[in-house]
Amino acid sequence: MPVPTPDASPGLARQLAIYEKGVVGTKPKQPIAIEQLEAAAKKELSAEAYDYLVGGAGAEDTMRANLAAFRRWRLVPRFLRNVARRDLSVELLGQRLRYPFLLAPVGVLSILHKKAELAVALAAKETGVGMVLNTLSSYSMEEVAKENGDGPRWFQLYWPRNNDLAASFVGRAEQAGFSALVVTLDTFFLAWRERDLQNAYLPFLTGKGLENYFTDPVFRALLPAPPKLDLPGAVRLWGSLYSNPSLTWSDLAFLRQHTRLPILLKGILDPGDAKKAVDHGVNGVIVSNHGGRQLDGAIAALDALPRVVDAIAGKMPVLFDSGIRRGADVLKAVALGARCVLLGRPYCFGLAYNGEEGVANVVNNLIADIDLSLGLMGCASITELDRGQLVEIPAAH
Ligand code: FNR
Ligand code: LAC
Repeated sequence: MPVPTPDASPGLARQLAIYEKGVVGTKPKQPIAIEQLEAAAKKELSAEAYDYLVGGAGAEDTMRANLAAFRRWRLVPRFLRNVARRDLSVELLGQRLRYPFLLAPVGVLSILHKKAELAVALAAKETGVGMVLNTLSSYSMEEVAKENGDGPRWFQLYWPRNNDLAASFVGRAEQAGFSALVVTLDTFFLAWRERDLQNAYLPFLTGKGLENYFTDPVFRALLPAPPKLDLPGAVRLWGSLYSNPSLTWSDLAFLRQHTRLPILLKGILDPGDAKKAVDHGVNGVIVSNHGGRQLDGAIAALDALPRVVDAIAGKMPVLFDSGIRRGADVLKAVALGARCVLLGRPYCFGLAYNGEEGVANVVNNLIADIDLSLGLMGCASITELDRGQLVEIPAAH
């Protein structure tokens, strides 16, 4: 039987590479299934770090709902449509992304792997996927940018209680080649997280994940002694500045004045808020409930997506995260109106399991899965997907 040759398809090429190794008895070391990868990652982590990564708020009801919502939507494939080549790229804020997903901002990655965000930045560059660096990173944004080279990267801002510091973060990000700003709205304080409370575990309190603050001139000017000499003092200052629950819509004008970068609001779930985002001149929204880590009992992100998409009515791109695990999930979110999605916990499992290589494997597997699934749907381009190719069923079976 002739061996199939992969065309320009990343999916067939990756499949073939894996199956060919099987001929000589080699199986992939890194688990392919995300659930098994999570189990393998768990073995590499402290119990506290594992709980921090996989846990959610309260009863973790919203976290479960995020995954369950995907099971309610089913894809309807069509045939005889020449899908020999598939285009996975999307246009977004004047950029072309090769793949319809970015790596989501995830804080304090040094609890998962010592190379933390540097490993993610390298893996992103190598695989060609975009990354969103979070404010709470374990290496400074300049160090991460250097590692990421010319890869597409955005910066996620936790808006501090001090506007000079906010402006400083934004200016540094712009300077370091981050090409968009993601303002996370849903985490002006941390939710009641039962696992972390039981473990009495908050990594920031030992100075982890605070490198952007510790390297910032505005932050340092507020300290009597540098963080190296007085870590508890630096952590205390961070604690007093980290979050700003008093922000209102009108504050967005401040950011607009301080950056030329496109601004996206992350955490939008309500159609009314989506309309306000349009009215306040931002450039996009990300439908997300922070992976069920903030308001427990909140609507599943996928259930919020079509309502937000309808409210935005094509005036700006809508992105999505919270529950993306596989190619089919990406297709479903895009069919419901997301321009692209953000991948969260799955790449962190790869990082914990095997650093940069672990992340790259997760990314390349997802690209392959998206590519094959898109073809099997009967689409030559990810942009062809729409709601007509989905049906909603009442409950998961
Ligand atoms: C996050 N997320 C997050 N978001 C953000 O804007 N800034 C941040 O610093 C963090 N930190 C963070 C830490 C950890 C351990 C997790 C798991 C998540 C939320 C993240 O960007 C994304 O919204 C969720 O990960 C999506 O949910 P799933 O798909 O990972 O379940
Ligand atoms: C979290 C914060 C850091 O979800 O965003 O843990």
